[in-house]
Amino acid sequence: MFDRDVYCSRRARLRMLLGQGLALFLGNDECPMNYADNAYRFRQDSSFLYYFGLDTPGLAAVIDLDEGTETVFGDDPTIEDFVWTGPLPSLRERAAGAGVERTAASSRLGDALAAARSAGRKVHFLPPYRPENKLKLLAWLGVPPERAKDEASVPFIHAVVEQRSVKSPEEIAEIEKAVNVSLDMHLAAMRLARPGVAEARIAAAVREVALAAGGDLSFPTIATVHGEVLHQHAQVDTLGSGRLFLLDAGAETALHYAGDLSTTMPVDPAFTERQKDVFRVVLAAHETAKAALKPGVPHLDVHLAACRRIAEGLKDLGLMKGDLDEAVRQGAHALFFPCGEGHMMGLDVHDMEDLGEVFVGYEGRPKSTQFGLKSLRLARPLRPGFVVTVEPGVYFIPQLIDQWRAEKRFPDFLAYDRIEAYKDFGGIRNEEDVVITDGGHRVLGRRKPLTVEEIEAAVGRG
Ligand code: GLY
Ligand code: MN
Repeated sequence: MFDRDVYCSRRARLRMLLGQGLALFLGNDECPMNYADNAYRFRQDSSFLYYFGLDTPGLAAVIDLDEGTETVFGDDPTIEDFVWTGPLPSLRERAAGAGVERTAASSRLGDALAAARSAGRKVHFLPPYRPENKLKLLAWLGVPPERAKDEASVPFIHAVVEQRSVKSPEEIAEIEKAVNVSLDMHLAAMRLARPGVAEARIAAAVREVALAAGGDLSFPTIATVHGEVLHQHAQVDTLGSGRLFLLDAGAETALHYAGDLSTTMPVDPAFTERQKDVFRVVLAAHETAKAALKPGVPHLDVHLAACRRIAEGLKDLGLMKGDLDEAVRQGAHALFFPCGEGHMMGLDVHDMEDLGEVFVGYEGRPKSTQFGLKSLRLARPLRPGFVVTVEPGVYFIPQLIDQWRAEKRFPDFLAYDRIEAYKDFGGIRNEEDVVITDGGHRVLGRRKPLTVEEIEAAVGRG
């Protein structure tokens, strides 16, 4: 945990931003894999961590904004618990670590909320994403699970997004720690990558680095020779000569701050000429996007600058043609880049995605529905303290190419005859994590191999 004052001042600011009513924070419970005592790795809710820092299951908290009180609800461990877990601090001791004096048994929470509701007081809650928390809202507040997201408090969401979007120096230090561990994960993968090595072997080595650093993964690792599959989580293939290998993997620190890096490397000691050509298009888009990252610039413009640079590079390679401004405006480039250029990162790898992309990335305004652009998670103007990823890519997705070609989509911009030859190419994404500063931005962590030459120097040397 950070120092208790950090949590006290975060809650004090929230009280100012939110004003009236009760703010309910639902911590997470254990999540069984196949029976109750065999649970997935426990992951606390990120907003609960942000305001209370308490990293154990079975907790909730209420800030009474009118009375100015704060209460952590939970249960003290019993002597029977100690038999299985060893000694644990009391609820009061744990809450004190977050600067909260009042505690109450978890069985009291339902009555406290019902009493507030029947007194006509507003109970603010955030959109629940775990089924058990939806059921609690049903039991305590009568909110049907299918309505729980819509009935979440918009002022509460806005206040949390306002606070969590701007990272404090201690958060940036923690994120940078995560990024450096993530880089070590990528360097381990680069050393291992060579023909005949299983994707699973690399994924295991990557996770070992995260665990050994005292944390774990910040999201399920993507370690694949099918880089064209954006979220390929299966690790079933073996690295074959002539292929590209894409690693998208990040560490989460013990305090649960995330890193998120991607590297595309050749399986052989060197890229082929064709791989180099596309790699350099992606690199140019990456540098274009980074150069645009500064306060006041809408992240939508950063994304569009990367799209435009990709279109230019692909035109040079003969894969796109025509008026590129118009091609990007109409979304033709999305055949190769069907996702967003970056997203916020913090306690979540896609920071605050549970609160709603429209609130986090679009200031409450609707998103585009255009293919490609609709997958951009962050469009709003950047502010100092935002942490974002930079991850433009070029992907050759055979099914998408076949479908667009059959439908004759964008024939003025897409050179299908030339594109056909790339259907076995795979995909390229390289990713860095960046903090927006007063004067522009700073790339977080040690320098990551980014160029053709830097990556070739790092692969297959384990
Ligand atoms: N690292 C996975 C993603 O950004 O979606
Ligand atoms: Mn990412």
